[in-house]
Amino acid sequence: MKVLTKIDECRKTAEDDRKKGLTIGLVPTMGYLHEGHLSLAREAVRQCQKVFMTVFVNPAQFGPSEDLGKYPRDLKRDKVLAEKAGIDYIFCPEEGEMYGKNHLTYVYVEKLSEIMCGAHRPGHFRGVTTVVLKLFNIIVAHKAYFGRKDYQQLAVIKKMVEDLNINMEIVDCPTVREEDGLALSSRNKYLSRRERENAPVIYRVLKEAETKFISGEKEPGTIKKEALQKLRGNPYIKRIDYFDIRDAATLDEVNTARTPGNTVIATAVIIGETRLIDNVVIYKKK
Ligand code: PAJ
Repeated sequence: MKVLTKIDECRKTAEDDRKKGLTIGLVPTMGYLHEGHLSLAREAVRQCQKVFMTVFVNPAQFGPSEDLGKYPRDLKRDKVLAEKAGIDYIFCPEEGEMYGKNHLTYVYVEKLSEIMCGAHRPGHFRGVTTVVLKLFNIIVAHKAYFGRKDYQQLAVIKKMVEDLNINMEIVDCPTVREEDGLALSSRNKYLSRRERENAPVIYRVLKEAETKFISGEKEPGTIKKEALQKLRGNPYIKRIDYFDIRDAATLDEVNTARTPGNTVIATAVIIGETRLIDNVVIYKKK
């Protein structure tokens, strides 16, 4: 596996492989790799001939009061794990390489960036889309891989690709979970023992809501109310940013179980000091 830190070198590497007719995959991450990231990497390796993973903790997507400074990092370990997963190139630039001194340009997907997590983390998705488009411009891949765990991020990126006519396929990969249902996340490491024991309540409540939604017996509003009650009942949950039932493609709120399209039930809660997100996607049978 080749380690790249400079944009020019990385771009040239991707261009050379492309000229050889090879299929190029891209897996963007912020590092501190876990099985969720690695499942994306393995899928990319399965589908593509050359795979780039990027490791960059993107300051533009963190708010002033968020965890940029303490975000977990371990590049040495990331390199070992990426190589084991079959990654060909790991691009891990310094902050100054990605954002020059006078960076003034940002990409913003309206509406989709303002709801759910966007309503609680102003500027977050603007930072995500900006860095992702920069990476797409540096590594012109055929396919880019993202996890469903960050469902809204996936929807925002898909919209950006559609609206800006970006010639890249976005591949979404299923959420990888611990045995007790907790979605893997670099932020899980912040949880105390008691908080970690209580964290699976998030997925449990999502699954219960999913079952009720599929049965069609209750209105989404009632399902949401019951879910909120259960989450509020857990003493380790300090705050609930949202618990939403939305159309999986448009992210419009859904008011009835009899909807034509797929549905996503998504939530963000704060356990102790740690903000965790999760979701379930309900696919309509074709
Ligand atoms: P990061 O949180 O490091 O996640 C990188 C990728 O791994 C994302 O596509 C995310 O959805 C996926 N991922 C994380 N946990 C997962 C899990 N449990 N199962 C499956 N996939 C999972 O998301 C980001 O970084 C950044 O916002 C980024 C897109 C890299 C832009 O900076």
